[in-house]
Amino acid sequence: MPAVRLLPAEASHNLAVMACKYRVYPASQYQDDINLNTQFFGRLLSNPIGIAAGFDKNAEAVDGLKDLGFGFVEVGTVTPTAQEGNPKPRVFRLSEDKAIINRYGFNSDGHEAVLQRLSESRKKENFNAIVGVNLGRNRNTMTPVADYVQGVRMFGPVADYLVINVSSPNTKGLRDMQSKEKLTELLEQVNEARSRLESNRNVPILLKLSPDLEISDMSDIVDVIKRNKSRVDGLIVANTTVSRDNLHDAKWTAEAGGLSGEPLRARSTEMIAQMYQLTNGKVPIIGVGGVSSGYDAYQKFEAGASYVQIYTALVYEGPYLVEQIKDELSKLITQRGHSNIQSVVGTNSKFYLPKKKTQGFRN
Ligand SMILES: Cc1cc2nc3c(=O)[nH]c(=O)nc-3n(C[C@H](O)[C@H](O)[C@H](O)COP(=O)(O)O)c2cc1C
Repeated sequence: MPAVRLLPAEASHNLAVMACKYRVYPASQYQDDINLNTQFFGRLLSNPIGIAAGFDKNAEAVDGLKDLGFGFVEVGTVTPTAQEGNPKPRVFRLSEDKAIINRYGFNSDGHEAVLQRLSESRKKENFNAIVGVNLGRNRNTMTPVADYVQGVRMFGPVADYLVINVSSPNTKGLRDMQSKEKLTELLEQVNEARSRLESNRNVPILLKLSPDLEISDMSDIVDVIKRNKSRVDGLIVANTTVSRDNLHDAKWTAEAGGLSGEPLRARSTEMIAQMYQLTNGKVPIIGVGGVSSGYDAYQKFEAGASYVQIYTALVYEGPYLVEQIKDELSKLITQRGHSNIQSVVGTNSKFYLPKKKTQGFRN
């Protein structure tokens, strides 16, 4: 991956996906320590580190990503019909900040192509990856809720979990679907669609949130997901941010898109703590945003995450990062007197809450 970084950001992304697709990287021989083993909605996970959505948008590289040592793989975002996304250039590396700005805008092969790929993978004899499918809506859809419902119908039978993504900043109006009324309608329909599935009716449904929400928005969301009819099984905290605070190089301030990587780390951890507190630790959280070491991951578990995903750091550090994070995390678990990662979850949640009363993005 470091060599791949010499190319423009999108070309290197595509090449990295191809490298995983054709399994160019040797499969990791790292043996996950028993203290990393955990449960994932009734399934056994060898380790709680996953690849976040947006790397393998079209489910081309699931096996190759599993080879790198990820405990689970999230593909997507997938839209109902294929769409190209925004004009290029639309991905930018902010090397000084170990960050990325992207405004891909849901470039997707569409439901049918991705479903076919995933179904083919599942048929392979030794396929044992845990795969989540991240669902979106088409840019010009007149029926946004129906787009997600269609995603549940299509991928419910083949996914290990589904993600309702209403938090990407690059599709106009998408993040408005996090508002109380719209979210209630969306999640009611999604739950209804799941209950009608013939197989895998209990596929877990997770909601992915924006780090730019205020505490009042978060509290509204918790009210929605507490209701049985609009409940979710878990949360993903967080997507990319539109904030440009704390950047070294001011030239990126005006670049449109979602920012990920190091500048997002503290806000993401803070928001995990906020959601953990608001839900009394009862809703599993996948923590994501700026994790580039075992220690970063450990902080997310302490704040209240049960699982962690990475993306941007992989671009900067390369595929061996997965082993490094697992090794460091495993050692930290033991050093801090825990027997297993599960017992770290939420142990220091209050420490990560915003220190100031404002509780918005930390300035
Ligand atoms: C290039 C790029 C594309 C992304 N595409 C998606 C996407 O399609 N759907 C989604 O839910 N998140 C997407 N994300 C957000 C990531 O899944 C993750 O939430 C975010 O990058 C924070 O994690 P990180 O700091 O480890 O990268 C994307 C991120 C990047 C960098």
